[in-house]
Amino acid sequence: MSSSTTVLLIPGDGVGAEVVMAAANVLAALAPDLDFVQAEAGWRCFRRTGAALPSETLALAREADAVLFGATQSPMQETPGYQSPIIALRKQLGLYANLRPARSLPDAGKAFDLLIVRENSEGLYSGRERPIPGGFVAERVVTGLASHRIAETACHQALRHAERTGRRPHLTVVHKANVLKKSDGLFRINCLEVASSYPQITVDEMLVDTAAMWLARDPSRFDVLVTTNLYGDILSDLAAGMAGGLGLAPSANIGDKRPALFEPVHGSAPDIAGQGVANPVAALRSAAMLLAYLEREDEARRLDQAIDHVLRFGPRTPDLGGRAGTKEVANAIKRRALLD
Ligand code: NAI
Ligand code: MG
Repeated sequence: MSSSTTVLLIPGDGVGAEVVMAAANVLAALAPDLDFVQAEAGWRCFRRTGAALPSETLALAREADAVLFGATQSPMQETPGYQSPIIALRKQLGLYANLRPARSLPDAGKAFDLLIVRENSEGLYSGRERPIPGGFVAERVVTGLASHRIAETACHQALRHAERTGRRPHLTVVHKANVLKKSDGLFRINCLEVASSYPQITVDEMLVDTAAMWLARDPSRFDVLVTTNLYGDILSDLAAGMAGGLGLAPSANIGDKRPALFEPVHGSAPDIAGQGVANPVAALRSAAMLLAYLEREDEARRLDQAIDHVLRFGPRTPDLGGRAGTKEVANAIKRRALLD
């Protein structure tokens, strides 16, 4: 068996491909011993091959140590045979935890640094919609098993987050158990129970609508939040907006075994695709999370610090008020990360 470490690149559609290729270039310079493999998925792939996630791509993902995924474009209307590749990959690879950090820009007024831990395997993403007279019902699944394991991940992350920020470990459980008494009630009880076995961690809970209000008003009051699938999806875009936009927001999808999958939170951005102006920072922060996952803490830190430096001093892409393109920003970050 080979001892090399393999990273699978799945660039996908639109700006997904632009930012993943820019991030791969930086990763290869920082960690030249990594082996890169590339595979396709998404809408363009579906139109060409009839599969949005070809079986070869899934097989390569299973063999990889980590996956860097861009974004794919999804049709709004039902398209026979099309299934979102990222949702399929999360399911097939058992990636039940979605980590979505958000931190303020270096020159922002009130600094914040938070992490949303989103349950990634059930909730409203069960994929079960059925007709009823006059409409449809979507099933929202909450199980004790999935709630318990995401709570464990969140507690583990709360300890890591505290180590990095120098703050006390703190976890906020976000739910809507006042209305969804059984399903969110089960999620809530599991989270509170698991957290009570970590005496170092202080815990509070918040209804999801209140959490949205506080994220918009004062995100610095949060450290680590744990929540169900759809709430986590929406709250993390809100947190990304508070941090300076989707061009900055990274994420990790992790399970109990390799590979984990890293991706910018944003989509294929058809409005700016092909212009070379997509912000590569979300993909590069995802690449830094990938390096940390592969226990390359030193390279991960260098990359994160280089990103901080370039966010502070430029160049910047147009979404942050600058005039630079994807490659110029990525190259500036690469040069900075390679300085010692
Ligand atoms: P989007 O994230 O693609 O774009 C939303 C807005 O953010 C746009 O104005 C876009 O220009 C901007 N933006 C996104 N990434 C940026 C970047 N790196 N730099 C600068 N600006 C950036 O979301 P939208 O427009 O709702 O969806 C477009 C397509 O992407 C849809 O087909 C959707 O299904 C898909 N999508 C795919 C995801 C995935 O593959 N994981 C996630 C989200 C959306
Ligand atoms: Mg989203």
